[in-house]
Amino acid sequence: MALRFEVLARFNRARAARMTLPHFVCETPLFMPVGTQGTIKGLTTSQLEEIGCQIILGNTYHLALRPTSELIDELGGLHKFMNWSRALLTDSGGFQMVSLLHLADITENGVTFQSPVDGNPMLLTPEESIQIQNRIGADIIMALDDVVKTTTTGPRIEEAMYRTIRWIDRCIAAHQRPGEQNLFAIVQGGLDPVLRDICVKALTERNLPGYAIGGLAGGEDKDSFWRVVAQCTAALPEDKPRYVMGVGYPLDIVVCSALGADMYDCVYPTRTARFGTALVPEGVLKLKHKAMAEDIRPIDPTCACMVCRTYSRAYIHALVTKDAMGSQLLSYHNLYYMLQVYSEKIKFL
Ligand code: GUN
Ligand code: ZN
Repeated sequence: MALRFEVLARFNRARAARMTLPHFVCETPLFMPVGTQGTIKGLTTSQLEEIGCQIILGNTYHLALRPTSELIDELGGLHKFMNWSRALLTDSGGFQMVSLLHLADITENGVTFQSPVDGNPMLLTPEESIQIQNRIGADIIMALDDVVKTTTTGPRIEEAMYRTIRWIDRCIAAHQRPGEQNLFAIVQGGLDPVLRDICVKALTERNLPGYAIGGLAGGEDKDSFWRVVAQCTAALPEDKPRYVMGVGYPLDIVVCSALGADMYDCVYPTRTARFGTALVPEGVLKLKHKAMAEDIRPIDPTCACMVCRTYSRAYIHALVTKDAMGSQLLSYHNLYYMLQVYSEKIKFL
């Protein structure tokens, strides 16, 4: 195993831990900004270090299409390629295909889809996903799972859960670098507690270095979402990291951390920045709004980030939609805000 997980403090179900990965010693709970093409849109890697980012998520699907995993491998791996010396995690690709390409089709062998490059039919199997992720070289790699929307009902949920269990064994068998990269399994099973329970038990038996809770944040109500997280965190091993995929909003992360989850990722802070929205303690601030045009205050007067120490709302209002710098400054502030939520953790634990 290429991971050490030491719980440093607990408060009820919440915990703060040190997660030692090959490239970085991370403090959890932690938030992973999402970098699609080997970059967090609009930020340099030194800016990411400056705001306290410990680990970045990369998408196998996007990287495999361009610049390709073979090229990344040839050039020395993704860390070197993107000049990032801290930790990296790659998602397996299936989820991105299913959510981005409506033409994707899942069979027992893998996910079939039409290449967005040349339109040719392509197949991503569990073996191939792991091989690609082995070439990319992230500290944590994710198993290929069969993901269905939580709002789906009927036998498809059960089929996807059992297929995810069958695929984990194919992923484990295909993994060539268990000493350098940690394979995490993903719990599926929709909103059904019986299916979630079967999945947690089966995956836990595989004794992997970490576990993710998948298939959430897809439009289900908060009550159902938190209930699944509460059930899975209670049943997953105490001494291993628990990652809630695709989550989320600051409130969701605080609630999930109280329920014993440790890791999160979401495009929200950077995506919403590109639409001119800043995250602030009161909620959100829309920088495009006319009221910002003459407002000389920083985005958040209580924020210590470079953007809030340097620029006014009026300046960002003038840039937003006119120049890429507007969304870059907003992404910087929003990620600083998200990463800050967690550095407060030691104080409350
Ligand atoms: N990202 C958000 N949710 C999921 C999920 O259920 N599976 C995978 N692989 N990625 C995700
Ligand atoms: Zn700020």
